[in-house]
Amino acid sequence: MKGVVYQGPHEVEVQDDVDEPELQHPNDVVIDITTSCICGSDLHMYEGRTDAEPGIVFGHENMGIVSEVGDGVSTLESGDRVVLPFNVACGFCRNCESGKTGFCTNVNPGFAGGAYGYVAMGPYQGGQAEKLRVPYADFNALKLPEGDEHEDAFSLLADIFPTGWHGTRLANLQPGESIAIYGAGPVGTMAAYSAKLQGASDIYIVDRVPSRLELAEEHCDAHPINFEEADPVEQIKDQHGGEGVDKGVDAVGYQAIDSDKEGDSDYDPARENPAIVFNNLVQTVRATGQLGIVGLYVPSDPGAPDEMAAEGRLGLDFGKLFEKGQKLGTGQCDVKSYNRRLRDMIIEGRADPSFYVSHRESLDDAAEMYQRFDDREEGVTKVLLEP
Ligand SMILES: NC(=O)c1ccc[n+]([C@@H]2O[C@H](COP(=O)([O-])OP(=O)(O)OC[C@H]3O[C@@H](n4cnc5c(N)ncnc54)[C@H](O)[C@@H]3O)[C@@H](O)[C@H]2O)c1
Ligand SMILES: [Zn+2]
Ligand SMILES: [Zn+2]
Repeated sequence: MKGVVYQGPHEVEVQDDVDEPELQHPNDVVIDITTSCICGSDLHMYEGRTDAEPGIVFGHENMGIVSEVGDGVSTLESGDRVVLPFNVACGFCRNCESGKTGFCTNVNPGFAGGAYGYVAMGPYQGGQAEKLRVPYADFNALKLPEGDEHEDAFSLLADIFPTGWHGTRLANLQPGESIAIYGAGPVGTMAAYSAKLQGASDIYIVDRVPSRLELAEEHCDAHPINFEEADPVEQIKDQHGGEGVDKGVDAVGYQAIDSDKEGDSDYDPARENPAIVFNNLVQTVRATGQLGIVGLYVPSDPGAPDEMAAEGRLGLDFGKLFEKGQKLGTGQCDVKSYNRRLRDMIIEGRADPSFYVSHRESLDDAAEMYQRFDDREEGVTKVLLEP
């Protein structure tokens, strides 16, 4: 079957001889993919900034139609339309039991957490392909209404809508509070949208790509802050009556651009500073405020700007964080904690995150779309692939 295969830095290829998934366990199903999205998390691997080896089939944001059903599956039938959390989880380990399905201890030996098509996240082939095997299918698959309504919005339930929501929950956002979100990519914009749905007062969103900031302004009522124009901390405080905001979200991660640095291109690693968003947030959020860190940080970065960062060790302003008595939460999103309720908000017309989808393309065009999304080309905000 066809699948998107990682070849090495800045290169993926759509190959037509990728192994077709088969049922391996009685609780597996196989689905025919209808939509699989490209994620900012894929870009860390795509750019060679993880330990990913060539040969991985990418794709952790998957939805489709059940085509094969294992003997032990009790709640799914052939023909069911489902969306899968990017996490692969068992449902019965200590972490799954408490809702922390992003940290399942049974699906990836020696590690807490599994995912489809991702380095170090277990032996699960990705879904940027024609078919996908879903382990622990009764637990992992979320059923959707039949047909093809809301396909774009539902596909965002695999990761970015729940992950944006998770950022606001890690920050413990309360109705009426103010929040600043760094990053107006898919995750940051979904965090801003979640903040709006949860009744935030002022929402600030920081990025450098005008078309991304415009979408967040239009659909999330967020104040756009362009960090290439002036210090984002100062811009937010100026607009917020000189004070810090209540809560903050990091939706950028370790490959953050530092506007004080120059490079050959906008996305030259020489322009990066892996601690800048964390440190900006400590300044932006008021004393006793709370930070939700969903942007990715890695323990090993082959392309890091310095030796310390290569081992995932960053120059964080921890003293300032302590002085301000701030709290923080980090980590992969436990998609299952949120996706059912967010699905129902979509079905009932209370939420429609599909405003952020800019492209629905054939799987055959994956190589071009990876490159354009990686360039953060204007107007290329979220790319969905269909086989
Ligand atoms: N925790 C999770 O479960 C989870 C899930 C999905 C994605 N992620 C991570 O979230 C991050 C964002 O993902 P995405 O899909 O939105 O990708 P993305 O890379 O398209 O978005 C990041 C955005 O941050 C902007 N940016 C760069 N430097 C910045 C700075 N200094 N200040 C403000 N903005 C800056 C970029 O211009 C870009 O628009 C990635 O690190 C991704 O791996 C985490
Ligand atoms: Zn993702
Ligand atoms: Zn588990």
